[in-house]
Amino acid sequence: MKVAVLGAAGGIGQALALLLKTQLPSGSELSLYDIAPVTPGVAVDLSHIPTAVKIKGFSGEDARPALEGAEVVLISAGVARKPGMDRSDLFNVNAGIVRNLVQQIATTCPSACIGIITNPVNSTVAIAAEVLKKAGVYDKNKLFGVTTLDTLRANTFVAELKGKSPEEVEVSVIGGHSGVTILPLLSQIPGVSFSDSEVESLTRHIQDAGTEVVEAKAGGGSATLSMGQAAARLGLSLVNALQGKSGVVECSYVEGNGEYARFFAQPVLLGKNGIAEFKEIGHLSAFEKQALDAMLSVLHKDIELGEQFVNK
Ligand SMILES: NC(=O)c1ccc[n+]([C@@H]2O[C@H](COP(=O)([O-])OP(=O)(O)OC[C@H]3O[C@@H](n4cnc5c(N)ncnc54)[C@H](O)[C@@H]3O)[C@@H](O)[C@H]2O)c1
Repeated sequence: MKVAVLGAAGGIGQALALLLKTQLPSGSELSLYDIAPVTPGVAVDLSHIPTAVKIKGFSGEDARPALEGAEVVLISAGVARKPGMDRSDLFNVNAGIVRNLVQQIATTCPSACIGIITNPVNSTVAIAAEVLKKAGVYDKNKLFGVTTLDTLRANTFVAELKGKSPEEVEVSVIGGHSGVTILPLLSQIPGVSFSDSEVESLTRHIQDAGTEVVEAKAGGGSATLSMGQAAARLGLSLVNALQGKSGVVECSYVEGNGEYARFFAQPVLLGKNGIAEFKEIGHLSAFEKQALDAMLSVLHKDIELGEQFVNK
């Protein structure tokens, strides 16, 4: 199975490529693409790690040589936040980058599963869907906004607060991937309970965790290493499910049944053809219901922005 990383010379891309080189199943192929000329060198560097994963790097304006035959494409190409910016400030630059790369996917590997990491995810996934639709190759079971980092953060912070082992905690995070649209379902974690004030502060901490990294990096970018881990988790889950592993469930920002918004982060069961089942979000607490209602106007606006960018 061939996996392509677009934006592979960046902070996320390099961390992700390293994790994939060491964790993809034997016999996989890894294709790295970035406009930066260093990219073939990143691939040569990684090729010295002794795993049975073939790796090749491509740079320049044309992503197509990297995309030929790819079954999973993960996109982290674009600019990242600096202190004082929110994710929507990235739209002007990143919207065009995502549109251009997805256009090339549509003509080169139209049946690939696509994971969009590039922010603002709430809008860039809508851009990708509209580009694929225009090209006549859109399959909603194969397009994923990567929100896995919200789950990783929720797992870590819950484990810290409750003295649990982080590997044993798994939190569903629904909605979108920015500020109030990030909603961890703390009420659904088995065997853990929280006071009202813990729910409020933990939810805020998970929502603001990206900004915490941006500020701590003091102008040097946003989350890259934890994001590399998050994207690797989703990418490996996709590869495993495409290759026949059963019972693989991930939360991702996808086009489901539209009950809350056209695109919505929710748990999905992965299978041989991408999403096999859109799972229910389950029972929500009063706090979560209120937070869900409150996020929807933001989410709708973000989605419309992406749709209009392609259809204007
Ligand atoms: N989904 C998430 O949870 C999440 C988390 C953190 C960051 N992000 C987003 O991921 C993106 C990448 O972040 P990063 O820290 O890796 O940034 P970075 O600046 O380190 O890397 C971005 C890479 O994209 C490349 N690039 C730019 N334009 C390109 C194009 N047209 N074609 C190919 N490559 C191109 C650059 O050369 C660079 O190597 C940002 O948009 C950031 O906001 C998402």
